[in-house]
Amino acid sequence: MNNFNRCGNYRMLSDGMGPKEITILFKEVDAMKRFIAVLLTVSFLAVGAVVALAEGPAEVKFETKMGDVTFPHETHQGFVSDCTTCHHKGLEAGTCKDCHDGTKAPKAKDAFHDLCKGCHKEKNGPTGCKDCHKK
Ligand code: HEC
Ligand code: HEC
Ligand code: HEC
Ligand code: HEC
Repeated sequence: MNNFNRCGNYRMLSDGMGPKEITILFKEVDAMKRFIAVLLTVSFLAVGAVVALAEGPAEVKFETKMGDVTFPHETHQGFVSDCTTCHHKGLEAGTCKDCHDGTKAPKAKDAFHDLCKGCHKEKNGPTGCKDCHKK
């Protein structure tokens, strides 16, 4: 007679199991738990990577003749609920400079100055040249 009550591939605790069988059973359950934990970790990491990609960089650095502008992107995402305030052609349209080259769309310098300083004037962000351009 079989002491083990098979349930799919997994043995169930049942009457008539000796200590040895119970130890084996617990080892199987442990291995299964570890396996599930690994699966969960891997899927969380994958989701995290996709989210990071969709959210964009924490900071963007623009190198200019006037000095580098470090734009705290992540912080700004908290200022406005709507991403299209800045990504006005939608997130799939590419980077600002794909279009803002002075022919397809106004030069990046002008577009950025209008957008950035416009909001900063309204909401008390930095507006002095050296607040943004750091040598
Ligand atoms: C204050 C303006 C502003 C806001 C608000 C903003 N972004 Fe951005 N984002 C930028 C700028 C500037 C860049 C620099 C890269 C570029 O040239 O497009 C950028 C870059 C990105 C990138 C990198 C890919 C790319 O196109 O360069 C992603 C992704 C992104 N943003 C997603 C978002 C999402 C999602 C939100 C809303 C939760 C958001 N952004 C809100 C200004 C903004
Ligand atoms: C697919 C092309 C495209 C992309 C990508 C794009 N723009 Fe534009 N943008 C334009 C065009 C074309 C105009 C001219 C007016 C219009 O059609 O909206 C414009 C106008 C603007 C203006 C107003 C013009 C001005 O000088 O006052 C601002 C500000 C601006 N864009 C900022 C941005 C920023 C910031 C990004 C990136 C987060 C961006 N744009 C991405 C095409 C684009
Ligand atoms: C929709 C409004 C808005 C837009 C658009 C915007 N900003 Fe800001 N930004 C703010 C506000 C509000 C603050 C002030 C935050 C504070 O001091 O608490 C700020 C602060 C900053 C700071 C100072 C951060 C610090 O740590 O002191 C920099 C640098 C900056 N913005 C760069 C930019 C640049 C570059 C752009 C354009 C690509 C831009 N911002 C567009 C609202 C905006
Ligand atoms: C809110 C932040 C901010 C302020 C304030 C600001 N700028 Fe800018 N500036 C930028 C950004 C962002 C760019 C775009 C950089 C790029 O095209 O890569 C830029 C570009 C420029 C460029 C083009 C440089 C190049 O190499 O193409 C010049 C020149 C410039 N700014 C001068 C000024 C002057 C002068 C002032 C003060 C009157 C000023 N800026 C204030 C953010 C700012």
